[in-house]
Amino acid sequence: MMFFLLLACTGSPTDESINPEPLPLVTPSIVPDPITDVRAVEGVLGSRAVADTGQAVGTSLTLGTVGDRIRFTEAALSASAGLIRIRFTNNAAAGAMQHNMVIVPAGKEEDIGVAAIAAGESARYLPDSPDVLAATEMLRAGESDTLVVDLPPGTYAFLCTFPGHYLQMRGTLTVT
Ligand code: CU
Repeated sequence: MMFFLLLACTGSPTDESINPEPLPLVTPSIVPDPITDVRAVEGVLGSRAVADTGQAVGTSLTLGTVGDRIRFTEAALSASAGLIRIRFTNNAAAGAMQHNMVIVPAGKEEDIGVAAIAAGESARYLPDSPDVLAATEMLRAGESDTLVVDLPPGTYAFLCTFPGHYLQMRGTLTVT
């Protein structure tokens, strides 16, 4: 029930577009607002994430969400081994619909999806796990984030870790 109350209080898409940038944290003792501070877990970028400096990469990918649905635009992505840049966009129009994109080893999407719920809002639903290879920020409607990840050949999974979304928002990333 708390979840639905929260959704009802997050404002309209118009409100979101007026001030898309989160306010910086003033002191560490202040608990970040999970709705407005999209950089709350910036330090948890994942064990294979690389700072995006605009560097050359082997593969550039884009991924989005299908409108207001709990669904990625792609069920499968492929890339060359090495540096991969992924631009992820939350295409929802509804202000309360949040999504991220998290890359994990194949078969770990269920574990991370469940762990994300336990991690909670204060962690932006991103568990501090070595299986989180790379993650975008938790995006509100209309927002985008880019991640760069350095992956060896293998089969990976991607998912959204907003509570419950992993059941429908998951796909395969094949790196060769
Ligand atoms: Cu989602």
